[in-house]
Amino acid sequence: MAKTLITAALPYANGPVHIGHLAGVYIPADIYARFQRLMGEEVLFVCGSDEHGVPITMRARKEGITPQDVVNRYHTIIGNSFADLGISFDVYSRTSSAIHKEMAQEFFKNLLDKGVFEEIKSEQYYDAQEQQFLADRYILGTCPKCSNPDAYGDQCEKCGSTLSPSELLSPRSALSGTPPQLKETTNWYLPLGQIQESFLNDWINSKTNWKSNVLGQCKSWLNDGLKSRAMTRDLDWGIPVPVPNAEGKVLYVWFEAPIGYISATKEKLPEDWQSWWTGDSKLIHFIGKDNIVFHCIIFPAMLHLRGDDYVVPTQVPANEFLNLEGQKISTSRNWAVWLNEYLEELPNRKDELRFVLTSIAPETKDSEFTWKDFQTRVNSELVGILGNFANRVMVLMHKYYTGSVPTVEFFESYLIGKTAASLLGKENFVPTSNNRFLYENYIAPVKQLISEYRFRDAQFSLMELARLGNKYLADLEPWKLIKSDEKATAFIMRQSCDLLLNLATIMEPFMPEASKRLMKQLGVEDSRTLQQQCWIDNEWLSLTDGHCLNSAELLFQKIEDDIVEAQIQKLNASLIANSTSAFTVGDVNEKLVGSNAAETVISSIEDSPEDIKPLIEFPDFAKIDLRVGTVIACEKVEKADKLLKLTVELGEREPRTIVSGIALHFSPEEVIGNQVVVVANLAPRKMRGIESQGMILMAEDATGKLVFVSPKSMVIAGSGVS
Ligand code: MF3
Ligand code: ZN
Repeated sequence: MAKTLITAALPYANGPVHIGHLAGVYIPADIYARFQRLMGEEVLFVCGSDEHGVPITMRARKEGITPQDVVNRYHTIIGNSFADLGISFDVYSRTSSAIHKEMAQEFFKNLLDKGVFEEIKSEQYYDAQEQQFLADRYILGTCPKCSNPDAYGDQCEKCGSTLSPSELLSPRSALSGTPPQLKETTNWYLPLGQIQESFLNDWINSKTNWKSNVLGQCKSWLNDGLKSRAMTRDLDWGIPVPVPNAEGKVLYVWFEAPIGYISATKEKLPEDWQSWWTGDSKLIHFIGKDNIVFHCIIFPAMLHLRGDDYVVPTQVPANEFLNLEGQKISTSRNWAVWLNEYLEELPNRKDELRFVLTSIAPETKDSEFTWKDFQTRVNSELVGILGNFANRVMVLMHKYYTGSVPTVEFFESYLIGKTAASLLGKENFVPTSNNRFLYENYIAPVKQLISEYRFRDAQFSLMELARLGNKYLADLEPWKLIKSDEKATAFIMRQSCDLLLNLATIMEPFMPEASKRLMKQLGVEDSRTLQQQCWIDNEWLSLTDGHCLNSAELLFQKIEDDIVEAQIQKLNASLIANSTSAFTVGDVNEKLVGSNAAETVISSIEDSPEDIKPLIEFPDFAKIDLRVGTVIACEKVEKADKLLKLTVELGEREPRTIVSGIALHFSPEEVIGNQVVVVANLAPRKMRGIESQGMILMAEDATGKLVFVSPKSMVIAGSGVS
């Protein structure tokens, strides 16, 4: 039997994962992996943390800790939260492991020895002040395509273009903010142009069953013509280039991270890993759209060049992006629903999250999550349809038959297939093949759709089965019929019970915990035989006469308003916390305070012309009471990465508490003792349970780092600003 190796993009270990990652990558990958296992395929589902790369070193710099500290922290958080959500990886590895270092270096050496790379001497940007080359995200500048002033050296996040540092206009160092110098260095390049001719063009063109969003991106890359791309970098965090005299050089993170899939396989199966990467093994990459070029062009090129019978991807079902409450999800603005926080705050709502994120998965275009919609979907579909059907069946079975499946007579006119046929508008219903009819119309489509990576439709189709159950009960009203015809009622309940059993089985890949709970209520302790019948033998399932059910329990609970309101509040708090920094690049500050910071505000206005807000009249301005305050204490706010709680002396009786969203820019120690400008008459607002009594003015310097707007020389706390 052919093996199926399923990979899910290795998340960067520089922060927790959020609902966008889940909807786009991890939930679909998990549904698919569970499905293939149930279908009896030999499956390995691999993932791990992506622990190199500039985002990690940046984060470490900001927090004043080592990159290893950063990845250790997030590797644990991410790994635990995936497990908690029931993402069924066979292995969750990491790219800072010894096994991976060895694997990545061996891969590089192999290609090097084959003479694949071009060794190119070039001039690269260099920060003389920091004595460091500026690769990828270490360099910022204006995007040549869309003029975004804050594009990175490898990518513009505004328009999505992939860039190289030399394409940036007015480049600046992300470390010191200074314009970079050019310095000569040697790196190893993958000649993608040649590989395009010898392999990629034909290979991509042969992929007629790939998703159109994926093929579209690939073909546009190929049409533009691929260029050689450096596979090594002058950086200190990463896997050393395994070549003599290559000190200070590491493997490009997009070269080694995908090799992480191979290392993870080896970690799990030290003896047998090769068989998953060679021969007729199928390789399927679940990723988000920003990863397409790396998984459809660069990594396949590497695997192809490696030879040795290595496989290339069979399918890359990449998804688009998920938005949150009308805005792009953003890690830096804390505009996200973080999985680890969700699991802490809503610990008994795991399958609800899986269900909703699958319902709205961005399979063909960007889509949107809102808390209200989450509530509606859970309450109307999971509680109102699926849970309601399950509960009605369970309760009636106990009420009429003390939970034991009755032996029944056959009532042709009460077959569920009849209700189904009328719902579906099908005339080909034959009573003798009731079960076949149900299987073909309700179970087979779920399987078919999953196998086509259409998880949204597959789950919708599974809900159709629950809808059918409800319709059947509503039409036949066994609770009334019981008074006049006990035998017919028993037949109807039996039919309903079987439907519930099929539902419990087919929902496993989508909602594994709820499926288990339902199986338990149905008295099925070991579901393996039934699974085999459903998934492999293509049968409509049926409970045996006399089978005993367990007690009835509610399958899903309603989501009350206070739960979603608390979540919306929490998002609003990050909006407010962010508006502290939004206050920075305004024109207001620099007119108010003649300080250093004001100068940086001016320069950053020149760099990034933000829209000036509409004119206000003087009386509006005069309403704002600005005071100079001295920060006398400062601490982190628990469970809020971005927030610091400041105690600010304003010359009043009591110092004020101000919560500010600057924790990623300053440690508490750095803040204490500073003089800051405070909006002293802003209405108090609660953030994370702490009342914030004012707002602090900040400015952004040329590198995007926040600085305080403060007077040049010490003034008395509480002085007005005019
Ligand atoms: N860390 C990358 C991201 O989050 C994905 C890496 S996938 C791998 O976008 F294949 F490179 F591992
Ligand atoms: Zn751009």
